[in-house]
Amino acid sequence: MAAGGRDNSYYCKNLLKSNSMYTYILNTTVLPREPECMRDLRLLTDKHPEGFMQSPPDEAQLLGMLIKISGARNTIEIGVFTGYSLLATALALPDGGKVVAIDVNRGDFELGLPFIEKAGMAHKVDFREGAGLDRLDELLVASVVEEEAGYDFAFVDADKPNYMHYHEKLLQLVRVGGTIVYDNTLWGGTVAGAIVPTLDESITDFLREFNAKLAADPRVEVCQLAIGDGVTICRRLI
Ligand SMILES: C[S@@+](CC[C@H](N)C(=O)[O-])C[C@H]1O[C@@H](n2cnc3c(N)ncnc32)[C@H](O)[C@@H]1O
Repeated sequence: MAAGGRDNSYYCKNLLKSNSMYTYILNTTVLPREPECMRDLRLLTDKHPEGFMQSPPDEAQLLGMLIKISGARNTIEIGVFTGYSLLATALALPDGGKVVAIDVNRGDFELGLPFIEKAGMAHKVDFREGAGLDRLDELLVASVVEEEAGYDFAFVDADKPNYMHYHEKLLQLVRVGGTIVYDNTLWGGTVAGAIVPTLDESITDFLREFNAKLAADPRVEVCQLAIGDGVTICRRLI
């Protein structure tokens, strides 16, 4: 603590100390700007028995912003569910942009598809059913023909124990200078010792290991955000 009582430690920059702070952010900056089609899809998904899986609105806003700032055109999403983050991605992509959207479960994607269609975004979505690692292997085979990594952006929101395997494949698919975003990297704070009985502890260990490996990976620049359940942004360097 510095003279005068001001806390100059980095801890004072962690603003999200309360639900009221989060509610303030949602009500001030996020929800008033949430497109109607996304709001409708979010509210439908809230009624799904596994609705807790959908990305929160502030995170979807971040994804859209990253895609627009970086000018991404070709993107990959692993973990679609009903498509909330997918719709945010499609809306942020320019005309002619595409997102390869991968999920083991087509049924949940089809629940959200009418919202994507109504928003006029279906032509940007290339849904591929199946396990993320298998579908990425297919993209890798296709990319060998094209010789250069052709994707600008990827969002990984499924299959946490395999995050390191996704990372290795995405580093071949996403071009140098491109962005790879991983969701849930703080896993309810359990990576730093929080006790959350509803969360699978084995995933905590995987994510601790993953976070440490990313932090030491010279092939990417890394930025850890305390948005949602923890979002890690990587920029490919080499
Ligand atoms: C957290 S949800 C994704 C949420 C979504 N991004 C959103 O904003 O609503 C995780 C999804 O990953 C899918 N999934 C689980 N294991 C997978 C795997 N190995 N490959 C691809 N998808 C998988 C599940 O079916 C589920 O729909």
